[in-house]
Amino acid sequence: LACILIVDDEELNTAAYSRALTAFGHDCTEAHDGMSARTFLAAYSYDVVLLDVNMPSESGIELIEHVRSASPDSAVMMVTGVDDAQLASIATQLGAHGYMVKPVRSNELAVNVANALIRRQLEAENRRVLDTLESTVAERTAQLREALSELEESRTEIAASQAEVILRLARVVEFRDEDTGRHVERMSRWCALVAIELGWTSEEALNLRLASQLHDIGKVAVPDSVLRKPGRLSRDEMELMRTHADAGYRMLAGSSSELLRLAATIARTHHERWDGSGYPDGLRGEATPVSGRMAAVADVFDALTSNRVYRPVLLGESALGLMTGELNFLFDPDTLAALTTVVRRASSAAADAIALNAPVR
Ligand SMILES: [Fe+2]
Repeated sequence: LACILIVDDEELNTAAYSRALTAFGHDCTEAHDGMSARTFLAAYSYDVVLLDVNMPSESGIELIEHVRSASPDSAVMMVTGVDDAQLASIATQLGAHGYMVKPVRSNELAVNVANALIRRQLEAENRRVLDTLESTVAERTAQLREALSELEESRTEIAASQAEVILRLARVVEFRDEDTGRHVERMSRWCALVAIELGWTSEEALNLRLASQLHDIGKVAVPDSVLRKPGRLSRDEMELMRTHADAGYRMLAGSSSELLRLAATIARTHHERWDGSGYPDGLRGEATPVSGRMAAVADVFDALTSNRVYRPVLLGESALGLMTGELNFLFDPDTLAALTTVVRRASSAAADAIALNAPVR
């Protein structure tokens, strides 16, 4: 049983269709022009709308679009006196469900209406499934976005708290060994610059900068009598001092944090040397992880160029000259070349800054 709106300018036709369809149990309303069809459509909902194509005021073709937008769930059937394939095609493209040519027999009408009703039901179900699917997809996408942003937030928080822990730990060494002063900070900056010069991403370089701040953390295990001794160390004292590499490694190793594992590697390997003469493992060449090789050049360069009581301080170029000259066998050539580049770049930038600040005469 369906509600059907029959639109045809011939009252004989609407009466005939209405009779035929009422006999099949449908509930029919008759309209004789576009205007009254629109009025009925605004007030009631119809399962099927039968449209005559040729009407004096407004053609059925013009009405299709209105029905489709005003009542999207209604099935539209065209009835025409002319069997025109082009007209049928236009009607279908506009959304008509069927096309019948007059004279229409009542059985034919009933079968077409039944088919249109089935098609309409399938379309409605299809739309519902699509709507549900779309809203499910939208909902899941929103949930995913939220989860990602929470993840990103917690990653940022974790990274910030890891960085803070590392900076605080780095201060522990400064408490014990005042001599290092700002050494840790400068050394870690050179490490990051060298890493970027060697093609590391800025995130990797930042991690290296943080992790390398802990390179001497093992010094907290070295007695004050050795750590703070003003003069040269004896052989035994030197041995004790050298334990800081392994001690630092043991303090940091085995962490689930990638950053702390990197710090552990640097702590253990920053005194290894390219020719195998370093400690604690006497690693040679590329057997020393690249983070340790970077830390080695940065550590030595900063030690040479900073003010220490037991030896004169060198200018950057002199320190580079020493490292690339008589000491060059101690360092990875690529890492040393990167250090040379970044040091020269930094000093020319500094020179430019001085020139820019010079008073104009
Ligand atoms: Fe060290």
